[in-house]
Amino acid sequence: MNAKTKITSVAILTSGGDSPGMNCVIRSVVRTAIGNGIKVYGINKGYEGLLNNDMIEMNASSVGNIIQRGGTILQSSRCPEFREKHNREKAAQILEDRGIKALIVIGGDGSFKGAIALNQEMGVPVIGIPGTIDNDISGTQYTIGFDTAVQTAIEAVDKIRDTAASSNRTFFIEVMGAKSSSIALKVGICTGAENVLLSDQKVDYHKIADAIRRGIRRGKGSSIIIVAEGDKPGRSYDIAHILKDLHDISSKVCVLGHIQRGGSPTSNDRFLGSMMGQMAIETLMEGNTQNAIVVRDDRVQSVPLSDCSEKSDHAMKAFKGIAEELSI
Ligand code: F6P
Repeated sequence: MNAKTKITSVAILTSGGDSPGMNCVIRSVVRTAIGNGIKVYGINKGYEGLLNNDMIEMNASSVGNIIQRGGTILQSSRCPEFREKHNREKAAQILEDRGIKALIVIGGDGSFKGAIALNQEMGVPVIGIPGTIDNDISGTQYTIGFDTAVQTAIEAVDKIRDTAASSNRTFFIEVMGAKSSSIALKVGICTGAENVLLSDQKVDYHKIADAIRRGIRRGKGSSIIIVAEGDKPGRSYDIAHILKDLHDISSKVCVLGHIQRGGSPTSNDRFLGSMMGQMAIETLMEGNTQNAIVVRDDRVQSVPLSDCSEKSDHAMKAFKGIAEELSI
């Protein structure tokens, strides 16, 4: 497509781990498209639904009363089949047969990789919108859902701090992030945690024990240590056991898990989701066919899709030093 090709119909899907605020993006895409005379198809269950030709035309009321709802009304899936070229060919054919001129993909880095391949190999116009609680895509400082997940985790940690302080206890509180430490770092800073264990960092038990004992000497009875789940959800239980064995320090563990993925989106996720959805349609109407809608320098911007091809928690990692400095 070039700047002169009028865009007449688009499809939208949500892919990978769902995140609060995806509904705000869907609502914004649908309403902006319809307002500009563009048909919108909602694809169910991400790339899996696309391969099954499972989609319906949406109208303004299909997205009524969803701005405040977590999850995604289109549902989501992880679809390893989309890594195979012959399936991407099939997807391109399905879109062409339906006369759909562009695909809007909301998801994380894996979803972006699929979108980039579909665009580069098959020439399907694609717009990507970063949506994952992990805030870990290159090229953007922000992904939809991160703020809500962090807020959910902060509320939980504050509650645990009350009981930890009342009984002089050390708590390991595990937050999501298989390969990302974004939630852990932000939650650690915002809750005044005594320590943050990153997803890709070897656990230094001597350092943890020293910090806890130093705190006790200064009259601190309790400690909160935020753990990024890393490649083993529930690893905090192992960490607590090893700390007991090596240093005779007892602790409690709380794994927050999928509670962080749900819930009503915060104002940030609603606002940015609404801006991003609108810009996705505008970007297509301007004739751009391989873009991502990102946040940079505190502004929503349309940039080349290829900027967002990697997993990277660069935006929050920049604050690693501050987390360490404040956690003495
Ligand atoms: O969406 C990202 C994420 O929430 C990661 O933080 C987490 O490791 C993973 O998804 C869990 O995925 P699933 O729900 O498929 O187990």
